[in-house]
Amino acid sequence: MTVQELNQRYGARGRISFQEGFDGAVIISLVSRYGACELSLYGAHILSYRPVGHGPVLFLSKKSAWQKGLSIRGGIPVCWPWFGAVDESPDLPRHGFARIQDWTVVASEYTNDYTELTLGLKDSEESRALWPWKFELKYTIRVGESLRVALTTGNVDERPMEISEGFHPYFRIREIETVSVDRLDGARGVDCLSGEERKQTGMFSFAGETDRILYPKANGCTLVDSGLGRGITVTFQGTRSLVLWNPGKDKVMADVEEGEYRQFACVEPANTKRDRVAIPPGKTHTLSMEIQCRS
Ligand code: BG6
Repeated sequence: MTVQELNQRYGARGRISFQEGFDGAVIISLVSRYGACELSLYGAHILSYRPVGHGPVLFLSKKSAWQKGLSIRGGIPVCWPWFGAVDESPDLPRHGFARIQDWTVVASEYTNDYTELTLGLKDSEESRALWPWKFELKYTIRVGESLRVALTTGNVDERPMEISEGFHPYFRIREIETVSVDRLDGARGVDCLSGEERKQTGMFSFAGETDRILYPKANGCTLVDSGLGRGITVTFQGTRSLVLWNPGKDKVMADVEEGEYRQFACVEPANTKRDRVAIPPGKTHTLSMEIQCRS
């Protein structure tokens, strides 16, 4: 559908609009009385979220590629149908292919309290070449008092399906050295850099390069940013695990500018490869996340 057709069918003046963006991608703007969000149909990738009364919540890299075929660095990537790399097939795209595909618009809705958009992705010849299952994904993004996203995987194949998945938000922070994450005390997990099992004591902080899976006891935590004087609360359902990631000073990444690592922290509700989700034929599984900013 063209941008004009999308606006006619799913748009609403001042609330939902579609426009042309980078490399032919469609950019969608969602506005409610509580805030605004922008996303790209390419990757179903949320690019920004600004709740009324707060600064931008998400980080976007100055060096992001903005090119189809590559993932966007920052915002909220959707990792699916696998999280991380596929060890047996290192050539497969990291974090799956959902973040580098064009999605379609399924529905839009708005009320006095929220603005909502639902996107969809189905298997194609291209996807089956990478991952031979028939699937139907629905991704709902709601901008209300908080930002709520829900990713539903439908197994429309005749065989059972196993996935790993995750939301990969890049939260904008003042500086990595002064943020911490609460409600993780006592959580067990693994340090993905050393492979060692870990148990968290007290608040979690990002000390140098960090790549940690934790199994929190609560289904939420707050990224406390004393520099910006705010907390970002992340609540999640459909998973038991969180990934905490920051590349640190020394990791060279083509799409992260030198020093930019200090400006973001990733707190990612995910079903990692250690916690694959089995979905029987005809069934669905939903992973959801809510983001709320508080001063
Ligand atoms: C995190 C992983 O979720 O994403 C890290 O735990 C990874 O291992 C990071 O480096 C970034 O991944 P990518 O593919 O977007 O560079």
